[in-house]
Amino acid sequence: MKIEQLTAESGAARLEELGALLLDAVAHGASIGFMAGDTREDAAAYWRKILAELPGGARVLLGAFDAAGRLLGAAQLALAMRTNGRHRAEVQKLLVFHAARRRGIGAALMARLETEARTFGRTRLHLDTSVGEAGAVEFYKRLGYVVCGGIPDWAANPDGVFVPNVIFHKRLASGCERPGGVSTGRGAG
Ligand SMILES: CC(C)(COP(=O)(O)OP(=O)(O)OC[C@H]1O[C@@H](n2cnc3c(N)ncnc32)[C@H](O)[C@@H]1OP(=O)(O)O)[C@@H](O)C(=O)NCCC(=O)NCCS
Repeated sequence: MKIEQLTAESGAARLEELGALLLDAVAHGASIGFMAGDTREDAAAYWRKILAELPGGARVLLGAFDAAGRLLGAAQLALAMRTNGRHRAEVQKLLVFHAARRRGIGAALMARLETEARTFGRTRLHLDTSVGEAGAVEFYKRLGYVVCGGIPDWAANPDGVFVPNVIFHKRLASGCERPGGVSTGRGAG
């Protein structure tokens, strides 16, 4: 398995696979912004929008591939661009094909995402994930992410039932968050 950063061009060449990845997660119950009836075109439209953002430099898209070059999973990092938030980034849409789960692919994508975050000087990661069948809450806890809250009825599962989300954060380095932005140490993690 190898992990590569996707560009707008290399991502466009993978549009079908990226769409299939998203719909596969929805089909297996993940609450990731899409409903059970959403189509390949809905998924493609989502990925086109994401790919269009990549040249701007505020988003990183990673793909995990098997030895034959087939997509196994993907993950995104959205870099906060406001001047007071350049120490943080949000993990978004970590997805692994259902058939490829529990083989360490999600953890490998997150490890690389954290490396990318450090490269951009980001020392605080955050994310939210819906409580559901997919085991994402257990996954992020296992990777050292700290729960800092949740909102009831945050989003509908693909089958229409509202579920709460869980908000996580993780500090990637200790001490100063960035020059001029000293952590007070308040809050867990
Ligand atoms: C969450 C997700 C990305 C995990 O990917 P993965 O490749 O299966 O994860 P890994 O194999 O790297 O798991 C690492 C560890 O996390 C924990 N973990 C992962 N999935 C778990 C589950 N379903 N239940 C409990 N623990 C789980 C385990 O401790 C696991 O280690 P182990 O297999 O040695 O026990 C995958 O389940 C997925 O795509 N879910 C649907 C989309 C989603 O909810 N994404 C996150 C929010 S956007």
